[in-house]
Amino acid sequence: MRTQTGTAILLEDYRPSDYQIDKVDLAFSLDAQETLVTSILSMRRAEGVAEGAPLVLHGDELELVSIAINDTALSEDGYELSADGISINKLPANDVFTLKIVTRINPTANKKLMGLYRTSGNFCTQCEAEGFRRITYYLDRPDILSVFTVRIEGDSKTVPLLLSNGNCTDKGALENGRHFAVWHDPHPKPAYLFALFAGDLGVLKDRFKTRSGRDVTLEIYVEHGKEPRAAYAMDSLIRSMKWDEEVYGCEYDLDIFMIVAVSDFNMGAMENKGLNVFNDKYVLADPETATDQDYANIEAIIAHEYFHNWTGNRITCRDWFQLCLKEGLTVYRDHSFSADMRSAPVKRIAEVRGLRAHQFPEDAGPLAHPVRPRRYSEINNFYTSTVYEKGSEVVGMFKTIVGEEGYKRALDLYFERHDGDAATIEDFIKCFEDATGADLKQFSLWYDQAGTPNLAIETNYDEAHKRFTVNIAQSLKSSVVTGDVEPMHIPVRFGLVGPQGNDLAYSGVTGADVTGDVIHVREPKHSIHFEGVEQEPVISLLRGFSAPVTIIPERADSELAFLARHDNDEFARWEALSSLAMRQLRQATHDVESGKAVKSSPELTTILYEILSDETLEPAYRALCLSLPSEADIAREIGSDINPDAIYTARSQILDDIAKECLATLQATYAKLNPAKPFVPDATSAGIRSLRNTILGLIVRATGDVELAAKHFSNADNMTDRADALSVLALQAPDAEETALALETFRAGYADNPIVMDKWFAIQAMIPGGGALERVEQLSKSDSFSWENPNRVRALIGSFSVGNPTGFNRADGVGYRFLCDATARLDDINPQVAARLITAMRSWRNLEKKRSDFALEALKSLLSKEKLSRDVRDILERTLA
Ligand code: PHE
Ligand code: ZN
Repeated sequence: MRTQTGTAILLEDYRPSDYQIDKVDLAFSLDAQETLVTSILSMRRAEGVAEGAPLVLHGDELELVSIAINDTALSEDGYELSADGISINKLPANDVFTLKIVTRINPTANKKLMGLYRTSGNFCTQCEAEGFRRITYYLDRPDILSVFTVRIEGDSKTVPLLLSNGNCTDKGALENGRHFAVWHDPHPKPAYLFALFAGDLGVLKDRFKTRSGRDVTLEIYVEHGKEPRAAYAMDSLIRSMKWDEEVYGCEYDLDIFMIVAVSDFNMGAMENKGLNVFNDKYVLADPETATDQDYANIEAIIAHEYFHNWTGNRITCRDWFQLCLKEGLTVYRDHSFSADMRSAPVKRIAEVRGLRAHQFPEDAGPLAHPVRPRRYSEINNFYTSTVYEKGSEVVGMFKTIVGEEGYKRALDLYFERHDGDAATIEDFIKCFEDATGADLKQFSLWYDQAGTPNLAIETNYDEAHKRFTVNIAQSLKSSVVTGDVEPMHIPVRFGLVGPQGNDLAYSGVTGADVTGDVIHVREPKHSIHFEGVEQEPVISLLRGFSAPVTIIPERADSELAFLARHDNDEFARWEALSSLAMRQLRQATHDVESGKAVKSSPELTTILYEILSDETLEPAYRALCLSLPSEADIAREIGSDINPDAIYTARSQILDDIAKECLATLQATYAKLNPAKPFVPDATSAGIRSLRNTILGLIVRATGDVELAAKHFSNADNMTDRADALSVLALQAPDAEETALALETFRAGYADNPIVMDKWFAIQAMIPGGGALERVEQLSKSDSFSWENPNRVRALIGSFSVGNPTGFNRADGVGYRFLCDATARLDDINPQVAARLITAMRSWRNLEKKRSDFALEALKSLLSKEKLSRDVRDILERTLA
């Protein structure tokens, strides 16, 4: 990999710090433009470090007011300031000393939303990964754990609320209309978990009694008047706390747990100790304004942040290369929680769709990196779906390999052995090995080798000997792996499905280690013989998606159709159906490109028809089956020389055909499905809405009955139905009068609700076709658009570049230029969000020539911009390398 900046940080360069910070006393005197931060650090030189070794503290965009050691001001030759911090070279002979630093910062000017910033007139912090250094000079690295005491002082009227981590130990009034509060957090923590919030919000309160009897006060802070909309978040929090006790034995460890919702936030939410800060779209919900997906997201993210209290906070990361230690594990935990709260197979299918949509393309493109990277130049760019989602898959594979019981023992050991530590992936793996005796050396390659492994499969049935042979060959192609690729340990869950649909038994197996229903693929090639298989089976592979790999089974459409009907694993059934549909969609795309007529296969339509009419299947599952692979899914499968217009046309025609064939049943089912009234956000009702709204889209395809969608829209008593109907209108009939009317009704109804207006922006950004760019440009100039609000930018520009393949990839390349210009503009305000935005172009090389040439030109011209942030530069350099 080539980097021009040469500032890469390497895992192999990790060294423990020369100094520790035993205790931090912070005092904030809040002011919109001139906040003073006084930090008193109890420093300790580490054992074995030479007396006088320079102390280098991180700092970013700080104004140093004063600095003193043991109460004596440092003279100017005692330290050296740089753009990255301060180096102190006159240190006392004692190994312990206090360092007092006063800095001045301007929260109002902080548009990066890292460090201390303003949101809706309030003060808020974000410190992960390296935001604390924008507040004061510090050893801003996750292996420096310290006990924080924080005094906050501010105006009593404008900031009545003064919050930080831990417990409030003192508060009171001051002169000049000001007041103060003191917070003490007894748990040593790294600076990235520090948080402060000061402002004026309303609160929803509840209580939780932990299983050992600790009474915990729960508080969720939201804008005044919106307290009732935090009820679902509170309910999710209580369920998470209970679940973590029951399933992981993890109990909460402070007397108070607070969540603050803010509308300007770079990410989803942040797990600061005892004081989570949330993007308000993942807190606020009611039937009128939140979709079922919003409810599910809130439940998942509330759980995720809460679960970090043990996996992230009590046990944190030694360095940022270990990010997946807390994120992969915590995502795995929140997935399991949601699966327990909802339908496990439906949840698993959604996870795998997400993994394929985001992580697989990342792993196949220029931004690929191992789950545990070995180098970075900007850590913000490594909060990726590889670290999070693939990291979670790796944890899931641990469980598949060592079994439920083994997993439990390993996690118990991990909590016991590493509580209070800043740990590494090696520590984590060691717990699995020590608790179960398993040898996980080969398995640990999952953390080190980028790229999605592929399994090629051939099968053969020898009738005379009742022997079923499975040949499996693994391979790994990656754009970033150089040198030798080593074979991985891949757990493949399987079943031998007999003609009646039941799993067949076998009397013996050779050629691979097969335990229970898992084949352990470890060699480049396996020839596996199952003996005593009485009938010819169809093999079902990768049940439950037991490993994040791609798989090419050599099999006929009829076998896929058979599995789609009979596999006893619901995930595998869906997978077989998707593979069947994918073959069709690829063929159709090919036909469109070569000017041939597109035909949908009767077999696919028949299966979809059967699923649609099968009332023993969950509605949510039926809806997932009826949605077919997306345009992006098809593009990914095709892999190169992609023409998004051809994909769109092919997919539309196949869907139109299917909808017409099944019309009568679609209409009958639509009429019959009755979601509960009044609205309940539970998974069952959500599934019914999802099926009904998917069917609505298909009926409108078949009939062109825009009226029906308009009626669905105006009759809706909840946001799911309203937003889904609006999508059907906008995406299928963008020019219809009904659509214009619905869009305007929606806008007028929710103009004062930013979270809902984001949906209005997103839906319009995704209207396919050549006119999309002008529409998006227009919207970006409207008064209600703001470049400073990440949610709004993501809703409009993110949805356009990621969710509108035909509009964004317009053949004349203007979409690429627009995104690059938008990135440049945003980079001056918020580099972290700008860098994420431009990752939408990571797969540019896969486009057909004309488009990829335009994309390259746009990317190069962005790279030549004079003042690029490290964030955007890093993404661009890797994208173009
Ligand atoms: N640690 C947060 C989470 O996944 C994500 C985050 C990263 C938030 C960086 C803000 C900044 O739970
Ligand atoms: Zn997380």
